[in-house]
Amino acid sequence: AQAAAFQGAGESFVEFANENDVKVGVFFGSQTGTAEDYAHRLAKDITASFGVNAVALDLMDYRFDDLDQLGEDRLVVFVVATYGEGDPTDNATDFMDFIGSDRTEFSNGKGADEQPLEGIRYAVFGLGNHTYQYYNAMGKKVDACMSTLGATRVGLLGLGDDAEGMLEEDYLEWKEDFLADFAGEFELSEKKEEYKPMYRIIEKPEVKSDSPSVFLGELNRQQLQNIPISAPVSSVNPLISCYKKTKELFKSDNRNCLHIEFDIKDSGLSYKTGDYVSVWPMNPSQAVDDLLDVLGLTAKRNTVIVVQPFNTMDKAPVLSPTTYDTVFRYYYDICGVVSRQFLSAIAVYAPTAETKAKLEKLGSDKDRFRKTVLDYHLNLAQVLRLVSPNRPFTNIPFSLLLEDMTHMKPRYYSISSSSLVHPDTVHITAVVSRKEWNEQEHVFYGVATNYLLAHCLHNGHQKKHHPNGLEYQIDGPRAKWAGGVPVFIKKSNFHLAPPNVPIIMVGPGTGVAPFRAFVMERAKLASDGVKVAKTVLFYGCQRSNEDFLYADEWKQYKEQMGDAFEMFCAFSREQDHKVYVQHKMLEHADLISDVIDNGGVFYICGDAERMAKDVTNALAEILTTPKVDGAKRVKELRDNNRFLEDTW
Ligand code: 2AM
Repeated sequence: AQAAAFQGAGESFVEFANENDVKVGVFFGSQTGTAEDYAHRLAKDITASFGVNAVALDLMDYRFDDLDQLGEDRLVVFVVATYGEGDPTDNATDFMDFIGSDRTEFSNGKGADEQPLEGIRYAVFGLGNHTYQYYNAMGKKVDACMSTLGATRVGLLGLGDDAEGMLEEDYLEWKEDFLADFAGEFELSEKKEEYKPMYRIIEKPEVKSDSPSVFLGELNRQQLQNIPISAPVSSVNPLISCYKKTKELFKSDNRNCLHIEFDIKDSGLSYKTGDYVSVWPMNPSQAVDDLLDVLGLTAKRNTVIVVQPFNTMDKAPVLSPTTYDTVFRYYYDICGVVSRQFLSAIAVYAPTAETKAKLEKLGSDKDRFRKTVLDYHLNLAQVLRLVSPNRPFTNIPFSLLLEDMTHMKPRYYSISSSSLVHPDTVHITAVVSRKEWNEQEHVFYGVATNYLLAHCLHNGHQKKHHPNGLEYQIDGPRAKWAGGVPVFIKKSNFHLAPPNVPIIMVGPGTGVAPFRAFVMERAKLASDGVKVAKTVLFYGCQRSNEDFLYADEWKQYKEQMGDAFEMFCAFSREQDHKVYVQHKMLEHADLISDVIDNGGVFYICGDAERMAKDVTNALAEILTTPKVDGAKRVKELRDNNRFLEDTW
């Protein structure tokens, strides 16, 4: 007989719920923390609305093999993100293996096909992005599995779409319906309870902020204290890497393009050509100053605080003792657009009745919120300043900020070096837009790219002025030395095919990053005497003498690879009409068909909204013959991992 499916190593959730009188377990499947943030907010909203005990929990920490014993008066909610090619997040894999296996057996002795979870109630909110093929695959899978196991869903299947910043509105809409259905089915009546803080904030004015016990935003403290790293570095314990080299690939009026080489030698980190590197950014000093100022916390910015959950089941949201300054500089995404729900939540703490009314209006009126806040990408400090230009918000409980603001997340970059050629360094290629939101006077600066630009400028001999006027504590406690950046490797499925497989790569702009790695690797193989199949790159930029990335390197690769390497460039602004990569593809349609007919792999990297769609259509057109439907052919290629996308 086959062994039962793996049930997870943690504590039984049912036992935990019984012991702690938990009515609703809100489980998150989260990679970078977005789903985790939403799970915490949902648990909090459930408790605040009905006074029932709801807690946010990590899927990885619990077992579910006795979920059949949960009882009808309890609910499990799954707030799950979709990762990579429709995969579960790392913390959700055991859970998915368990509920998705036909060998699953529950404590009532029933297997997957015997409705073991009959009578058990659940809800699902998935987080996805419609520009990816496997849109919200996890949310859908969890729902399908639970339903197959006989459980009954409460509310609609929630599918949040992160594209175009609509995730928040999708969540709010789903949540409203869900809470109504939940109340109806569990016969709960809404009791608007007064806000009860989750965390006790204890100020310790007697402790100096530079004393060793105080956390000042460091990640991987062990490494910073020169303690040999016992455990391998991990996504929660990244490597503080020192870059070996930085370069500005080009600089124009409104864009800078960066090339950075991070050192990973002897770090325990390794990568495969085509993987990503994640980078933990920090907020610019100006944003930290602004927020502390509108909250009336400037004078206390370096006061040491301890953050303790009132409920022992909750985890503290930041490492403490710490300081107010640290919390905003490193742990929270204070530059991101503020959420509508949060504006409603803080309205009662406004300094005047008039300001309160303004915030309430913004919080409840979707249209006004979009026109005033979303369209200009206003962050918390900017909105508070807008509704109250002169009086700070000194009454907002700090716990509420810790509860409802979004945590700082690492950012991913496609690695632009080959692991064969550069096993000890990881290269990234990133463009810094000076203005990502330039309607009227509001400007939004990309958090991570501007932070990396600050590093590049710092590395360039003298401290050069940041073109956006931003300042960063790059030699502050987080890294201890000016070149230190917290990094980690994220595996991808966007890998280079073996050398005997021909490939087509389409990567305009910084979309060329992984293809620099691919070509670099094949050039090395070729010069080592390996026979390399056709390697074709379609690249696009505005002008050959302006933003042409790695212009010199391609020649060298061509020398190493000879006829095996072909590169076609679309310079979009060198003539009176636009020329894009897809136009170049159509000019070389025969070559592309040949490569595909010979078992080749087609790769796209770069802009997801328009470029990837246009390129996919061009490929379908090229593959269309009187007998073949090109779009179907593309789908087949996709299903066979011969059409790979890495788009954003
Ligand atoms: P443009 O900015 O002149 O419109 C890298 O960003 C290159 O991709 C630029 O040359 C840019 O051209 C081009 N680009 C913009 N939209 C595109 C699309 N839909 N398909 C392909 N290339 C595009």
